[in-house]
Amino acid sequence: MTATTGHPAPGRLDFDDPVFQSDPWPLYAHHREHDPVHWSPALGSFFVFGHEHVRQTLVSPDFGTYHPFRASRRAFGPSMLDSDGARHTVQRAAAAGSFRPRQVGEAATRIVAPLAAALLDDLLPAGRADFAEVLARTLPMQVVCRVMGLPVADAQWLADMMRPLAAYVDHAGVELAEVVRRRQELRAYLLAAAADGAEHPGLLHVLAGNEELTEADACNNGILLLAAGTETTTAAITNLIARVAAEPGLFERLRRDRSLLPAVIAETLRHEPPLHVTLRFAQRDLVLEGVDVPAGSAVQVCLASANRDPAVHPEPDRWLPDRPRRPTMSFGMGRHVCLGMGLANAELETVLGAVLDRLDHLALAEGVDPRPVGRTFRTVPALRCSYPAPRPAPSSQSSERRTAP
Ligand code: HEM
Repeated sequence: MTATTGHPAPGRLDFDDPVFQSDPWPLYAHHREHDPVHWSPALGSFFVFGHEHVRQTLVSPDFGTYHPFRASRRAFGPSMLDSDGARHTVQRAAAAGSFRPRQVGEAATRIVAPLAAALLDDLLPAGRADFAEVLARTLPMQVVCRVMGLPVADAQWLADMMRPLAAYVDHAGVELAEVVRRRQELRAYLLAAAADGAEHPGLLHVLAGNEELTEADACNNGILLLAAGTETTTAAITNLIARVAAEPGLFERLRRDRSLLPAVIAETLRHEPPLHVTLRFAQRDLVLEGVDVPAGSAVQVCLASANRDPAVHPEPDRWLPDRPRRPTMSFGMGRHVCLGMGLANAELETVLGAVLDRLDHLALAEGVDPRPVGRTFRTVPALRCSYPAPRPAPSSQSSERRTAP
């Protein structure tokens, strides 16, 4: 379809290209301007880049999520993420109770704050620590465990089990046989956990007890939650701390005025969203921007490119927390909009708040590059920071080790 626009592409859309992985933004900008609905013969997919096309693809019933061989379906099993219509509604509704504003508010205080405080107790005495390794890669799985009613002690094992599944969804060369083996092991683990009368029953028990879901539905959506709640949140926490440590004076500004936190978080998620692309399938023959999109076609929806569409966000490449709040695609949109959006925002605000409580200053260690890299999921690979001696934790947050199930 490139030919219909008459503009040469500046380079192939190649997710394996290290140049693309370190700086996809010029390619996105080129496509938004010259080739907004692009057909890639090599990838066998259409791509949409602009905010309006991304919005339409996510909200219109002309696009669905189901495909029998979709990578996420193979990795997690059929779940709400790749179901449409009534199947989707039933699965999403079964899990939604844990993500209402009141439940998220309680989880922020009861779960996220003490877990973050305990991790900072381990991390900060070093005086120079990798926030990605110790905090961002650990906290989200611990939080999901608590929300689901799984033991926090299993979080590291679960993170190790899930890593290849997330990598498979990211097309990072993991064998399907390995994915299937792990998925079966995870199913057995979740079934045993659901049958176990946990001390603090959680979302897994709600899913397992829902009469409209099969046992397989409960397990698959459990595996989806373990993946969806962690890889993205880890990237978001890392990207946020990287921004706060790299931006001159920002840490001190936030210490003086916590009311700036939501705008700083929202702008960081817009500017460097953890998840760049999602997938849809055309439900009938369509014409998008003059381009024929036959029924059944795969359409890669470039969420990150939409976030930098100058038609919606002027000067889109600049990180400007004071900019007017306009819709972004970081959490998607429409029927599949991120179920955990409130929890993710609560985790970001709580973690950064805890770091601000404990430190007077935060800077990147020498030689650390704060720019995210990656394919579908993008984050800063290592985030060593330097900081002065920490203050003690506020006492109300230090009890997690005693209360975790
Ligand atoms: C900053 C962190 C996060 C980001 C950037 C993010 C992003 C997204 C996006 C873009 C989608 C839509 C996918 C699509 O339309 O195809 C999505 C869906 C989803 N997310 Fe998140 N997510 C985050 C955190 C979480 C957390 C913490 C949870 C739960 C613990 C979660 C659970 C889900 C679920 C269950 C879906 C599927 C919803 C459905 O299909 O109806 N996410 N997420």
